[in-house]
Amino acid sequence: MTAELSFPPGFRWGVSTSAYQIEGAVAEGGRGTSTWDTFCAEPGKVLNGETGAVACDHYHRYAEDVALMRELGIDTYRFSFAWPRIQPDGTGPGNAAGLDFYDRLIDTLLGAGINPAPTLYHWDTPQPLEDAGGWLSRDITERFADYASVLAARFADRVPMWITINEPMVLTLMGYSLGAHAPGKELMFDALPVAHHQLLAHGRAVQALRAGGALNIGIASNHAPTWPASDSAEDVEAAGLYDNLINWLFADPILLGKYPAGYEAAMPGPVEEDLKIISTPLDWFGINHYAPVSVGAATGNADVGATDGIPLPPGLPFEPRALEGVERTDFGWPIVPAAFGEILRTFKDRYGDRLPPIYITENGCAINDVPVDGVVDDQRRIAYLDGYLRSLRSAIDDGVDVRGYFQWSLMDNFEWAAGYSQRFGLVHVDFETLERTPKASYHWLRDVIAQNRE
Ligand code: NOJ
Repeated sequence: MTAELSFPPGFRWGVSTSAYQIEGAVAEGGRGTSTWDTFCAEPGKVLNGETGAVACDHYHRYAEDVALMRELGIDTYRFSFAWPRIQPDGTGPGNAAGLDFYDRLIDTLLGAGINPAPTLYHWDTPQPLEDAGGWLSRDITERFADYASVLAARFADRVPMWITINEPMVLTLMGYSLGAHAPGKELMFDALPVAHHQLLAHGRAVQALRAGGALNIGIASNHAPTWPASDSAEDVEAAGLYDNLINWLFADPILLGKYPAGYEAAMPGPVEEDLKIISTPLDWFGINHYAPVSVGAATGNADVGATDGIPLPPGLPFEPRALEGVERTDFGWPIVPAAFGEILRTFKDRYGDRLPPIYITENGCAINDVPVDGVVDDQRRIAYLDGYLRSLRSAIDDGVDVRGYFQWSLMDNFEWAAGYSQRFGLVHVDFETLERTPKASYHWLRDVIAQNRE
């Protein structure tokens, strides 16, 4: 193995998934309805009308999946609790069957020598909470803290790493601004309270988890370098606006205790006080990264594929532009390994001593190869992971304190509005038979991990 793929001693290797994308069994174990069940049932929202009702059937096949993780050699598994399994109505004491499922999963992981790293919230809001205003309502921040307390009481003795919320930016933009994800609201900039309430819920959950004895708490926030489409003043300004919206609106309140200029006035509640809770110090900060974005001033020549999947409508002061001359994944996202190191260096420069250790909580690509004679030869995923890991290593060499890398995803799964059309897994899933087949990239990553353990 080349030096660029060797990581510091103690570096953590993991894979990531989320509940709605893999579990299935939506009507079992007393699980309540989530916003994603509702959204999927609405015609035209998800490609081909697909849903997470069965997904990978991980709810029943978790032991087989943990065996695949063990064979891969990872030390950490990032998954999410389904809030509607724990609190079917979004309030009250934990639902026994839901807690029991995660008990079984966590104990199986620990038995396999794998650290469970659960996310409390990966977009599947209990529908009754959405009906009461969802993330537009301040009340959900109290509900979320209660939910965190229920989880800490049950699992703090066995869970060594905790993640509050996954990608608050995507829920805000895709779920409430643009309507491409559940709950399908198209509020444009009136969705900004959703950002504030998730941040406040995050801070309250950190405090509730700690009060319940949980340690080692972070968040999984997605970040991407935002590159001006040209060096014209208009494009630079437009890219700066977009950069604040997708990156710093979410990271600055947590790491600096303040919003980027101009945002505080748009937020509801006693914002100054809330920011104190939001900036409760974290043990680590999680970054999800996939691709850079190129942004220019609005001209009407937008390229939707350029924004890492966010379908920006016309009428905004900025628009996504195609990055020329780069390869793309099968989802259309640009493959630019250097951008990974760049965003990590930017975090170090921007936050300095206020930045806790970083974990990469997601990175990966949709490469849609399927088995040919029983073999999935996904060489383009190997090339992606190889390039991105080298770029990550270069950032570590430049002094960015990155402690671990969790690949998205263990197995092909339900890719939200894209249904089952985009395959992010190291393991192929046949969604008819639910058979799992490790791909060439699984074997490749297994070797990288093993060589790092020698
Ligand atoms: C981000 C999300 O957290 C995850 O749910 C999604 O599947 C991947 N990125 C790929 O789009």
